[in-house]
Amino acid sequence: MLLAGRKAIVTGAASGIGKATAERLGREGAGVCVNFFSEKEQEAAHEVVRAIEQAGQTAIAVQADVGDEADVQRMVWETVDALGGIDLLVNNAGIEKQIPLLETSVEDWDRILRTNLTGAFLCLREAGKVMAEAGQGVVVNMSSVHEFIPWPQFAPYCASKAALKLLMQTAARELAGKGIRLVNIAPGAIETPINTFVLDDPEAKRAVEEEIPLGRMGKPEDIAGAVAWAASDEAGYITGSTIVVDGGMSTYPRFV
Ligand code: NAI
Ligand code: BGC
Repeated sequence: MLLAGRKAIVTGAASGIGKATAERLGREGAGVCVNFFSEKEQEAAHEVVRAIEQAGQTAIAVQADVGDEADVQRMVWETVDALGGIDLLVNNAGIEKQIPLLETSVEDWDRILRTNLTGAFLCLREAGKVMAEAGQGVVVNMSSVHEFIPWPQFAPYCASKAALKLLMQTAARELAGKGIRLVNIAPGAIETPINTFVLDDPEAKRAVEEEIPLGRMGKPEDIAGAVAWAASDEAGYITGSTIVVDGGMSTYPRFV
C-alpha cells in the first residue's frame, strides 16, 4: 500500500475524479475526509465513505463549500478530530461553464474563481497549518491541461487553473522548509459529470477523442492512480511540478 496510515482530505469527493481518488486513497491505506458540497450529494458521499470503510480505513463525510472560509475551517477541525491529523490534501473541487468571454458576467467569473482558486487557497492555508505543525504533508491540486492550454469560451476556468500553477509553485518554495510538498495533477478529458455536455453528444465526443493520441477519454481511475503516487513517498523528491495525465492531448495532435 502506498499510503498506509496517512490522513487525507479530498474536496468534491462525491463525484467523478474526487470520488475515484478518495476510494483509491482508502485502498492505499489512508483515512479519508470525503468532502461534499450540497445536500444533493450527501448520499453519494456516504457511499464513498462506505467503500473506504470496506477497504478497512476510517472515513467521514463532511459537507462544506470550499469557497467559504468558516466551512473550510470546520472541515479541517472535523478531520483532525476524526482522523487525528491531516497529511494529505487533495484540492479537487471544481466547476466550469461554457460562455463567450464578452458575455461573461462578474457573477460567473466570481463563482468559478471562488471555487477553483479561492477554495484551493483556503484549504491549502487551513490544512497547511496542521501539516506545518506536524512538519510534513502533501498537497495535490486538481488542475487541468487548461493550466497551460487556452480554451475559448472557458476563460474564467482557464484563468483559475493557470493561477493554480503559480499558487502551487509559490507554496512549494515557501513551505518546503516545513516538510510540505505540493504537486498539481493536470488531467486531459476525463469521463465525469463535468463533461456531460461532451459525453451526451457523439459528435462532440468524437472530436475530443481526435485530440487524444491514445484515442479515448480518460477514466477517473486514471487520475486517482496519479494522485496516489504523487502523494506517496515514491514521489518524495517531487515538489513544485505539474504532472500531466492526458493521453497525450497536450501534444496538440491536430497541430500541423
Ligand atoms: P465533477 O463535476 O464530477 O466533480 C466536481 C465536484 O466538485 C462535484 O462533486 C461538485 O459538487 C464539487 N464542488 C463544486 N463546487 C464545490 C464547492 N464550492 N465546494 C465543494 N465542492 C464543490 O467533475 P470532475 O471532472 O470530477 O472534476 C473534478 C476536478 O477535476 C475539477 O477541479 C475539474 O476542474 C478537474 N478536471 C476535470 C477534468 C475532466 O475532464 N473531467 C479534466 C481536468 C480537470
Ligand atoms: C475540463 C473538461 C475538458 C478537459 C479537456 C478539463 O479541465 O474540465 O471539461 O474535457 O479539461 O479539455
